[in-house]
Amino acid sequence: MRDLFEGHFAAEPAAEGMGEGAVLLRGLARDCAADLLGALHDILEVSPFRHMVTPGGYSMSVALTNCGAAGWITDRSGYRYGATDPLTGSSWPAMPDCFLALAATAAEAAGYVGFRPDACLINRYVPGARLSLHQDRNERDFAHPIVSVSLGLPATFLFGGLKRSDPVRRFLLGHGDVAVWGGPSRLRFHGVADLKDGDHDVLGRQRINLTFRRAL
Ligand code: SIN
Ligand code: FE2
Repeated sequence: MRDLFEGHFAAEPAAEGMGEGAVLLRGLARDCAADLLGALHDILEVSPFRHMVTPGGYSMSVALTNCGAAGWITDRSGYRYGATDPLTGSSWPAMPDCFLALAATAAEAAGYVGFRPDACLINRYVPGARLSLHQDRNERDFAHPIVSVSLGLPATFLFGGLKRSDPVRRFLLGHGDVAVWGGPSRLRFHGVADLKDGDHDVLGRQRINLTFRRAL
């Protein structure tokens, strides 16, 4: 009993169920956050944050960029993945090793072995920014999970069901928390409530989210 107890705390992050096939791994990214932010700094020198326009013509309150072979983009013609950054006309920056390692570790801890993301959408929220309920469905194969890493200011993550009208659960995501959803939860609606103002030790008045996906 004692061994089991010790083993549990040594080897596994605190896993909180969010639904079938969906877990919240509190603090999993805390130890590698400095590496992630160092790599992010280099990515931003090549492909900076920008506000994209939705197909409906609205400018998103969340600023975004990407790294990896495929980057998620939106403009008046729709949502899609593209190999080049429309701002620079060049490839998106490569996915850093520490990004890949964290995504694979988190997916495995959630029961998805062998996850190799080719896309990382990087979202930046300042106080007041929000992301309305949506499904992630621009990827080719929904057999792969989504791995979502939170850094900086805490945010209320909205996690609904497979229908837009389904009830929504709210999870407060803090610095280093990682959410993974796949399998029967892969197409759940989700979003982020208006970011509350605050001052984070490391990131100040912002929240950064890394969303890893297998897009192609
Ligand atoms: C997303 O759904 O693209 C981002 C979710 C988040 O910022 O936590
Ligand atoms: Fe999403």
